[in-house]
Amino acid sequence: MRVLGLSGSLRRDSYNRRLLQAAAQFIPEDVAYELWPGIGDLPAYSEDLDRAQPSPAVVVLRQDIPEADALLFATPEYNSSVPGGLKNALDWASRPYATNVLRRKPVAVIGASTGVFGAVWAQAELRKVLSACGARVLDRQLPVARAAAAFAPDGSLADRELAAALAEIVRELVRVARPNEVRMKREQGQSRTCDYRREWPRARRNVSRQAPIG
Ligand code: FNR
Repeated sequence: MRVLGLSGSLRRDSYNRRLLQAAAQFIPEDVAYELWPGIGDLPAYSEDLDRAQPSPAVVVLRQDIPEADALLFATPEYNSSVPGGLKNALDWASRPYATNVLRRKPVAVIGASTGVFGAVWAQAELRKVLSACGARVLDRQLPVARAAAAFAPDGSLADRELAAALAEIVRELVRVARPNEVRMKREQGQSRTCDYRREWPRARRNVSRQAPIG
């Protein structure tokens, strides 16, 4: 099975990307874990663009989410809400609404901020948006506050309670996703073998070279 991590931050040294990296140690051995690298490549959502030929990054987004059994989002908080780039990705993923790729997808939301509240408002808003898209959203949050001091030198969360809470969220996400595992690709021998625990940091995939759907 495969868990896809999505960071709401495009920042090179993002704490939220580090948080997704810290989550890797709790992913079971038989589960592949990858980060989705293309949020910054998505154009601003427009129904006109969506009706025409969507950009390669959109095509890849709409292929990669269905291939994942579960999604783990890590979001910063921008002005008390979800960063625009992440919301934009969800808007692309949410169409066509009735059959959108987030529907019934098990998802969990965690987040880090440099402030004292650990992006709790952004996490709440993200859970709301994901629920509205039809995802199966875990009723959990992980507020990593004062993110600049939250990580140990080995990349794990320094606070033991927070680390335990992250482990529990990952365990629950995998537990919820297992019955719905997307087996088809593996059975067809088309599964990618990239495992984020071994291949971190992974080269950014050049989505612009992917062929658009004709
Ligand atoms: C922030 N930051 C922030 N923090 C917070 O706790 N509440 C907030 O409302 C905001 N608002 C906000 C707006 C904008 C435009 C920026 C750039 C930043 C600070 C934010 O938590 C900090 O930059 C984090 O480090 C961002 O996460 P990454 O990039 O490290 O993952």
